[in-house]
Amino acid sequence: MIRLAIRVARADAEIALAELLELAPAGVEEVDRGDTIEYAVYGAPGELPALPDLRAAAGAALVEVTTTEIADDWAARWRDFHKPVTIGGRLHVRPPWAEPPAARQRLLEIVIDPNQAFGTGAHDTTRLCLEALLELGEPDGALIDLGCGSGVLAIAAAKLGWDPVLGIDHEHEAVAAARENAERNGVQIEVRHGDLLQAGPAPAAATVVANLLRPLLEHVAHSGFAGEPPRVLIAGGLLRAEADAIAAAFAARHGLRERDRRERGEWAALTLAR
Ligand SMILES: C[S@@+](CC[C@H](N)C(=O)[O-])C[C@H]1O[C@@H](n2cnc3c(N)ncnc32)[C@H](O)[C@@H]1O
Repeated sequence: MIRLAIRVARADAEIALAELLELAPAGVEEVDRGDTIEYAVYGAPGELPALPDLRAAAGAALVEVTTTEIADDWAARWRDFHKPVTIGGRLHVRPPWAEPPAARQRLLEIVIDPNQAFGTGAHDTTRLCLEALLELGEPDGALIDLGCGSGVLAIAAAKLGWDPVLGIDHEHEAVAAARENAERNGVQIEVRHGDLLQAGPAPAAATVVANLLRPLLEHVAHSGFAGEPPRVLIAGGLLRAEADAIAAAFAARHGLRERDRRERGEWAALTLAR
């Protein structure tokens, strides 16, 4: 098993991370090394991102790439990295191998094994979207999760009461993981394979969550929705500095106004509503 680590300049680390997550959607280990931040992935040779792709993703922020052969405790380390998170005092997202929360905490539990897909629940972008979802109040009919990854947002929505719920992702691994996770959590959601860049207007429902990076959100804003635009759109995966442009794009084309903006680290999520 190999640990592939990439060190990047601290000042550009969040931007490099956004690019790296496209190559390693299940997430990366993060180690603070002072002036630099190290991001690492684990895997067998051949399963890891290609070095030229990694270098391109890190761009000018790149300081060093290292590979280390590691002992057989990699699975334990990887598991250690997927920590449970509690969101808004109401949701508890944990991997299957973590202990459930104490019953007295009365948390709505979501068990997610991301496998090869993005979405342990712990990434700032996912947390912001989950918080925004909780803030919407009473569930209101149908919800679509664009770029569903492990299914964490779609499953949370179904558990909170949205119905029907549809998740869409262009990664086959994500579709498989989201379906497995839905079953694991005992919720009925539909998960479809689809590429938002190829499929024309995005499918729409009264509520849409889209934890996508800026270019894809811009694409959705420009190519529009099949049918009525959503009444509420949660747009995540944005760097703080990108949020104004995305809010403006959905306001101009779909009449959606900014109702809420939440930020964590370098990331932002918008709640836009008609
Ligand atoms: C930042 S992850 C969000 C995953 C999950 N919704 C969460 O919040 O943790 C973005 C997801 O969008 C998917 N994605 C990226 N490009 C896409 C495209 N063109 N069409 C459909 N899905 C796409 C990725 O595979 C990934 O699962």
